[in-house]
Amino acid sequence: MPTLNWIGKDAVIKHHLEVPFHLLKDVPELSCGDPGTGNIIAQGDNLIALKALLPHFAGQVKCVCIDPPYNTGMDDRDDSGKRAGWRYNDNVSSPEILDWLGKVVGVEAEDLSRHDKWLCMIYPRLALLKRFLRPDGVIFISIDDNEVASLKLVMDELFGRRNFLGCVIWKNTTDNNPTRIVTEHEYVLCYAANVDNLPKEWKSVNLDVKERLLRIGDEILHEFSDQEARQEAYTKWFRKHKDEVWPFQDYKFIDQGGVYTGLRGVHNPGKEGYRYDVLHPVTKKPCKEPLMGYRFPETTLTKLLEEGRIIFGDDDRKLIELKVYAKDYRSKLSSLFELDGRIGTNEIKAIFPDDKRPFDFPKPTGLIEELISFTTSGTDLILDSFAGSGTTAQAVLQLNRADNQQRRFILVEMKESNAKAITAERVRRVAEGYTNAKGEKVAGLGGGFRFCELGEPLFDETGHIRETVKFGELARHVYFCETREPLPRERVPNTPLLGVCRGLAVYLLFNGILGDKSSNGGNVLTRKTLAKLPPFAGPKVIYCAGCLIGAERLAEEGITVRQTPYEIRVS
Ligand SMILES: C[S@@+](CC[C@H](N)C(=O)[O-])C[C@H]1O[C@@H](n2cnc3c(N)ncnc32)[C@H](O)[C@@H]1O
Repeated sequence: MPTLNWIGKDAVIKHHLEVPFHLLKDVPELSCGDPGTGNIIAQGDNLIALKALLPHFAGQVKCVCIDPPYNTGMDDRDDSGKRAGWRYNDNVSSPEILDWLGKVVGVEAEDLSRHDKWLCMIYPRLALLKRFLRPDGVIFISIDDNEVASLKLVMDELFGRRNFLGCVIWKNTTDNNPTRIVTEHEYVLCYAANVDNLPKEWKSVNLDVKERLLRIGDEILHEFSDQEARQEAYTKWFRKHKDEVWPFQDYKFIDQGGVYTGLRGVHNPGKEGYRYDVLHPVTKKPCKEPLMGYRFPETTLTKLLEEGRIIFGDDDRKLIELKVYAKDYRSKLSSLFELDGRIGTNEIKAIFPDDKRPFDFPKPTGLIEELISFTTSGTDLILDSFAGSGTTAQAVLQLNRADNQQRRFILVEMKESNAKAITAERVRRVAEGYTNAKGEKVAGLGGGFRFCELGEPLFDETGHIRETVKFGELARHVYFCETREPLPRERVPNTPLLGVCRGLAVYLLFNGILGDKSSNGGNVLTRKTLAKLPPFAGPKVIYCAGCLIGAERLAEEGITVRQTPYEIRVS
């Protein structure tokens, strides 16, 4: 299989294994609602944060959804707020890389190694993210033309080419600027952890609602031939069931073609569109024109009019709308997805009405909802390690509210200012409710999250366990190192028997868990401490500071001893 090479690849390929394990520190004053919801927002570089989260969530994430810097040369802002590139800052001590550290990544002409740097940044993070996925998990990565080709090759290398599920082309803008090829899209690459574990077909959770609406529509059309009576019957049904029809909450109308809604799809988004008059059927005067004109040439609009696809207001002061039938609603995850990218900015501005520029280019929640509605349900865990303004969390909460599920999220955002004032604050407002720019109260969606920061590394510079490390913290780490599985969440580690995994019992003697607080007293395996351990009839591995029991007795008891801290290793 062809693979990609770049400057620094050899140095970073195993870098994620060298990153030290840090502890996560709860910040209760920045947390929100019930911490038991299982949602987490962590502030810190995702390389370190992911490593810290691994002992808790390895193999448990159903969907990773990330939106890394695209490497446009303008992905970030400098301290004065001017747009600038991102910085490559990973602690990789290779001569090729040392020279890059801390410097802003420039645009092509200023920085010929920007693609090498980006690959050095993304590779170890993708390698770590893969370890979070469940066997039936998937990863979505947003990207644009700057790095899509490199990303595809790197993903083929890390995930395997056969696990490539597809690439969604997101048409997010209309650009009428004169140029050669007008770029009006971005990409979302999708890979499976293992394609063999995935269902043959992905169905959106909203498929059932669509089918229900179509059925009701058919019944009403069958029963009533008069249009007014049809609409009356449908309105009555709709009012009664309006809480059950997401995402069809705007499909309030019915005609001979079935249930439909009106969309501003005839309007030109962004740049100047077509200008002509559309006469109102009653007043016979031209209808109010959209700000940027119409999206289609007049001939197309005439055809839509003939087909009865245009909805008029009561008089010409209202903008016309396009009739969209429920039967045409997407119920498959298509490789083509059209959604105005500016919606993301509008959404965040509504939540932060006092802030002129809360965040540059957030994704629309609709894009993320589209991806996760096909791939997650129940209490599935969704991980976004380039969280930005927290769009993924909002999308999760919205989708949960709409389809009555309890999906959970983990978000990681590096910039402290973003993480606290934007990411966490946005999710808090969405969960608890807020007042938008029009002064309207927006009801909260419920839910909450734990806010965490990165604590100190587990081990000090000399490789010893830090004195401040608590039993439970080391226990989770040791269990993960031994089994490569996280200690089950419900298990509170307050006994030396941490758990049993695939028939192997894992024990830890640390911090005098058996009651002997003298230095090293209870942490050494002796005949006395062995007698105090909770029994297990099977093979055991015991992590301890030392062992005073002979090899023969250990073999008799089926005990393997691993000496802390030297033998606490994870690969
Ligand atoms: C393109 S933005 C994501 C925007 C997000 N999808 C939204 O809708 O708001 C990328 C984000 O990743 C963050 N980031 C960049 N490098 C990171 C790293 N190493 N660890 C964690 N976050 C990082 C940036 O600070 C930025 O907020």
